[in-house]
Amino acid sequence: MTALSLTTTDPLEAKSDVLVVGAYAGTDGPVAVDQIFAEAVSAAALTGASGKAGELTLVPGDGTVAAAVVAVVGLGPVEKFDAEVLRKAAGTTSRALAGRSSVTSTLGLLDLSSAAQGHLLGAYVFDRYKTPAKAPVATIALTVERNDKATKATLRSAVVTAEGVLLARDLINTAPNDLYPAAFAERATAAAETAGLSVEVLDEKQLAEGGYGGILAVGAGSTRPPRLVRITYSPAGATKSVALVGKGITFDSGGLSIKPAQGMENMTSDMSGAACVVATVIAAAALELPVAVTAWAALAENLPSGSSYRPGDVIRHYGANGEPGKTVHILNTDAEGRIVLADAIVRAAQEKPDFLLETSTLTGAQVVALGNRTMAVMGSEALRDRVAELAREVGEGGWAMPLPEELRDSIDSSIADLQNINWDRVGGMLVAGHFLSCFVPEGLPWAHLDVAGPAFNTGKPYGYQGSGGTGVPVRTLLAVIADVAGTAG
Ligand code: BES
Ligand code: MN
Ligand code: ZN
Repeated sequence: MTALSLTTTDPLEAKSDVLVVGAYAGTDGPVAVDQIFAEAVSAAALTGASGKAGELTLVPGDGTVAAAVVAVVGLGPVEKFDAEVLRKAAGTTSRALAGRSSVTSTLGLLDLSSAAQGHLLGAYVFDRYKTPAKAPVATIALTVERNDKATKATLRSAVVTAEGVLLARDLINTAPNDLYPAAFAERATAAAETAGLSVEVLDEKQLAEGGYGGILAVGAGSTRPPRLVRITYSPAGATKSVALVGKGITFDSGGLSIKPAQGMENMTSDMSGAACVVATVIAAAALELPVAVTAWAALAENLPSGSSYRPGDVIRHYGANGEPGKTVHILNTDAEGRIVLADAIVRAAQEKPDFLLETSTLTGAQVVALGNRTMAVMGSEALRDRVAELAREVGEGGWAMPLPEELRDSIDSSIADLQNINWDRVGGMLVAGHFLSCFVPEGLPWAHLDVAGPAFNTGKPYGYQGSGGTGVPVRTLLAVIADVAGTAG
């Protein structure tokens, strides 16, 4: 990972390869955020720079600057400037400066946390299978006015948050032949134990003994058996608890209800929810948030074979406290996320958390409804709205969606408690939300974050986001936990 440091050196005197300075878009061209950079910004203007958000212009360092190159990054019109504009500008800059060894950035003078996160997230490249043509920028020194305790703490929490996002991205980007349920469980265990957290992994035998009929059914078609991972962070003195549940389909072929070939390769990202809840609990611990957090990763590989679960099967879900679990008539094996999640939600709720947040790449309908950069949030009203708002605040994008009453009985079954789909194409995202709601105990505040679109960038890099796993919604989940702790600042 790119290393960040703090510096109080006058930026004009910083002897880095590159000095990063911001410029707003004024009516007559770019306007330097600080007059001391006016010369470099004028030089950028001569080559056509306007200061529009995300624009990046490299100009040679002149007599007033010690750095060899000045990178002038556009921040858009000053009245539209916000934390996300800054994160994106920092991310774009990091991506463009790959291959450079030392960079000094003055973007942190505007908002240290956002600049640091944008720089780190933008610098990330996934290099497990291929060495990138240019190495990520090695070190970025962030200029600050005072390098005091509060400044250091701000940087540290930004770095911990970014590290959480990058852990999730690494898991998501790992190919499914290398990241099957047991491999995911091992990596999650190693990361969590390093962070001092306690971990429990149920293997297929223990899942059978426990009656986890949903996770077992979805995993039945693969030679690589399913797992349920629990990671617990319980700080002394915590008065509130949050359960995080993540969909961990390490590959979703659709099973016997097989998907079309084109685009199936993207279903390597179908464990994004699980990756994000694992990364979140680890980051929450590193941030020492005073809230108990338990993450649940429901892991299975959905493949067609002679041992697969079938359309027509009736399965029985996990039942809490010795009660029989609900039965579900499977009509489509490709609606598998809700099946593994139902077991995990019941199990997580058994521990009586104060809040339950579940996240999943659950429906193609989410992408149709909100596109690739806005997650859908459903669930109990107050928590749903709080989560959607926090998602927008951290720059992940979120929108509250309803669970309309009239869609609920479309998943009633004549032979079981529920069926896993209806054959009506309307409101597929909401129907999935309804299905999950049937497994949430009455009175437990819960939210369902459908990140089918936002979890994985199949397009070009932009802002602080490269191609592949995004790590959405790690920053939203952390913001919710911080908000529950009352420490959001
Ligand atoms: N993992 C998919 C949803 C998905 C689609 C995620 C596109 C990311 C991008 C999920 O398991 C799925 O296949 N859902 C079906 C449900 C349907 C059968 C009711 C879908 O959305 O088509
Ligand atoms: Mn599916
Ligand atoms: Zn899926």
